[in-house]
Amino acid sequence: MQKIILKDNQLQVSDFPVIPFIEGDGIGKDIWPAARSVMDQAVEKAYHGQRRIEWKEVLAGEKAFLQTGSRLPEETMNAFKEYLVGIKGPLTTPVGGGIRSLNVALRQDLDLYVCLRPVRWFRGVESPIKHPEKVNMVIFRENTEDIYAGIEWMQGTEEAQKFYHLLESEMNVKKVRFPKTSSFGVKPVSVEGSERLVRAAIKYALKNNLPSVTLVHKGNIMKFTEGGFKTWGYALAEREFADEIKSGKLVIKDVIADAFLQNTLLKPEDYAVIATLNLNGDYISDQLAAMVGGIGIAPGANINYQTGHAIFEATHGTAPDIAGKQIANPSSLLLSGVMMLEYLGWNEAAGLIEKAMETTFLSGKATGDLARFMKDGHTLSTKEFAAELNANL
Ligand code: NAI
Repeated sequence: MQKIILKDNQLQVSDFPVIPFIEGDGIGKDIWPAARSVMDQAVEKAYHGQRRIEWKEVLAGEKAFLQTGSRLPEETMNAFKEYLVGIKGPLTTPVGGGIRSLNVALRQDLDLYVCLRPVRWFRGVESPIKHPEKVNMVIFRENTEDIYAGIEWMQGTEEAQKFYHLLESEMNVKKVRFPKTSSFGVKPVSVEGSERLVRAAIKYALKNNLPSVTLVHKGNIMKFTEGGFKTWGYALAEREFADEIKSGKLVIKDVIADAFLQNTLLKPEDYAVIATLNLNGDYISDQLAAMVGGIGIAPGANINYQTGHAIFEATHGTAPDIAGKQIANPSSLLLSGVMMLEYLGWNEAAGLIEKAMETTFLSGKATGDLARFMKDGHTLSTKEFAAELNANL
């Protein structure tokens, strides 16, 4: 049993790494045991006992609140800091002022600046588009800046008035159409923030032999924020990856966000790795997920490539409407586990799971959310679906 560490910018993974996990609220109780059993079996099948994940449960959300009185105990944060790599089920965001979203807290405290979302289609899964097999992209969404920084003031407040006064009197801004009833938001986008995101996207493309990185932005309108992202992205690529670009190994291109959304439907094969800002990334992730079968099977990860910290997660929420019924689809969490195995360099185990999923979907077997759209679809419970995957490994 050993901790994963980062040495000389390389992840050092022992054969029996300790990996903390958060089961998650709501359907977490259904999908975590299912996803874990498939990950464990795949690792066993791939390495015959030479490698094994030593899972370490850490508490967050409702389970943590009941046992410790805190929704995100210090111990949990410390475990993710110490062990570098972790995985989590969905967590409830309590409604009401003053309580920070747990997901946001983890991202901010560990400075997980990349939100990584691979989007691929599995044969057998119904899609609303004609050629889902052409969709194979990896989205690098900036995770710490943009309007998500939460710098906003409500119309009518003293702060909004003060801010407007600053704009008008000191910055000579005369363009606010309805100054008395306007709310204001600030969108910070920095050189460092853009560069580290684009660098991560380019390194990923090179490592995985992918042909292009596309910078998606709205720089025609927001010239210094989104336009800055594009300019700084290109400059970084030319400065740090000149040889790869010159040799034709990698193409860096850019596209305006609205055109990109259109193009993903018309010619998705044009895109491989996408590097984009926080808000664009939010819209893009959901559209692309829908194109390959929906949010129920879309995985994600939040990563800081400089420190090695990474938290892999299901992208959907806690689905309280179906929690505890053994009908939830564990695929999103399981595929985030596949991403985690790849991050560890355990590609054989990751590949086994992907193949087993395809075999299972091709036989028309899935949880109800997917099976009901399949021709001759056969609905399985969460547990039965996991058992089927294990049998197909
Ligand atoms: P949701 O994703 O939980 O549910 C939306 C719809 O999708 C529901 O009909 C649900 O039954 C269905 N669904 C979601 N995951 C599914 C799965 N694995 N299999 C089958 N069906 C599935 O979104 P909602 O209802 O907006 O949020 C519920 C709670 O989850 C909130 O407290 C929210 O804050 C939290 N949340 C947490 C996230 C996270 O931890 N990363 C992300 C999104 C929401």
